[in-house]
Amino acid sequence: ESAHPDFKVADLSLAGFGRKEITLAEHEMPGLMSIRREYAEARPLAGARITGSLHMTVQTAVLIETLVALGAEVRWASCNIFSTQDHAAAAVAVGPDGTPEDPRGIPVFAWKGETLEEYWWCTEQALTWPGTPTGGPNMILDDGGDATLLVHKGVVCEKDGEVPAPDTAGSEEEAVILRLLARTLAETPQKWTQLASEIRGVTEETTTGVHRLYEMQREGTLLFPAINVNDSVTKSKFDNKYGCRHSLVDGINRATDVLIGGKVAVICGYGDVGKGCAESLRGQGARVIVTEIDPICALQAAMDGYQVARLEDVVDTADIFITATGNKDVIRTEHMLRMKHQAIVGNIGHFDNEIDMAGLAAVPGVVKDEVKPQVHTWTFTDGRSIIVLSEGRLLNLGNATGHPSFVMSNSFANQTIAQIELFAKNDEYPIGVYTLPKHLDEKVARLHLDALGARLTELSPEQAAYIGVPVQGPYKSEHYRY
Ligand code: NAI
Repeated sequence: ESAHPDFKVADLSLAGFGRKEITLAEHEMPGLMSIRREYAEARPLAGARITGSLHMTVQTAVLIETLVALGAEVRWASCNIFSTQDHAAAAVAVGPDGTPEDPRGIPVFAWKGETLEEYWWCTEQALTWPGTPTGGPNMILDDGGDATLLVHKGVVCEKDGEVPAPDTAGSEEEAVILRLLARTLAETPQKWTQLASEIRGVTEETTTGVHRLYEMQREGTLLFPAINVNDSVTKSKFDNKYGCRHSLVDGINRATDVLIGGKVAVICGYGDVGKGCAESLRGQGARVIVTEIDPICALQAAMDGYQVARLEDVVDTADIFITATGNKDVIRTEHMLRMKHQAIVGNIGHFDNEIDMAGLAAVPGVVKDEVKPQVHTWTFTDGRSIIVLSEGRLLNLGNATGHPSFVMSNSFANQTIAQIELFAKNDEYPIGVYTLPKHLDEKVARLHLDALGARLTELSPEQAAYIGVPVQGPYKSEHYRY
């Protein structure tokens, strides 16, 4: 065990501040802390080498230190170039027992404002485990699927014996990945194949990453089993909804400090994230318009009291535009060209392709100006400008600090339980994509009730028999939708 692990963060002197915020967060994360106590002796993750690719925030620091308390070794990168909180990254690198002069924490590769090259280098560093049999992890904890993607792409290239030329890539980011893989193929020809051979599985945090996993499962290309953490009820119906209800307005406020009350705001997508976003803007007094492609979600929005419209019909009258679809090309150049002067445009979905930033940059004569990091005006030749947040990347983590601790305690309790399941009971999970059983979902919720002073009613045996459920749960059928 090295007292000086390898890592790369912005500024180790921020570790003291980071540690104080981690300590405050621990109190607000009762689910994670109770799992720490429950498994303190059993240490079910002893022997696990976990590579994490997930926003390096204060809440993630509590997750990382929980995994370590359960016996795991951990290497970490952020899953977005703007989402790292540098004081949290510093505190994790220094560790609870170290000092900036003598860091003793875990290898973390993350800072706020990475380039795309740096981002993928950090992902590679988190996946590279010097001095281990395969040179890699045996578990992945992913958010959006980038660590999983790099391993899978690497294996395909090694099988083909070549990497496609970067100039054939569909995007700048794809070209960066191909250049990285060309380098690893030259340096260590079987790096990813070898590394993948020992990976027992991945636990995936978000909607977009889960889509990728099911796609690979359908195509038969998935290399190891996966647990879909997103679709635990205590994840997507809480983090995606109540988390965004908190952090969307936080991001808009910190970025612009514009008064939201009275403005017209458009939310594209009325899934779990969109529902939280719409509620938070309405709570601030905005008039909210929703766009949807799914008639069920559109009807939900209408019955919740929102106008449901097409973007092109309202684009020149609204003040704030937020994408929450997990889809691409939702706000396009033709829309941005028609927006009001100083309209605010932001994305809270996982990837940056919801808003056509490349198209915006290609508008003849357009001028981009930085107001402050992650806040830019784009001025058209007629003098009108729009304000784009976090360059089209998820604004709640780019312009603010993401979701608060209490809701992340639910998500990360699911993550921790999923890591234990896949690592300790690997034989029970052939290659495929799984969700956690309902009794564990209910357990995560239970762990958070006391802290809110909530007292649960207990079923009598007669009542339980009458509705056909066990007294101790699970209380709902698999198809119940909450
Ligand atoms: P979801 O699938 O519940 O909702 C997305 C909605 O967008 C669906 O109802 C879909 O019908 C709609 N949609 C798709 N294409 C559309 C289009 N062209 N126009 C209008 N609506 C469209 O997914 P969820 O869980 O709400 O996640 C959305 C995105 O947010 C994903 O990328 C997810 O990974 C990400 N996410 C981000 C978080 C954050 O903190 N920023 C937290 C959780 C999820």
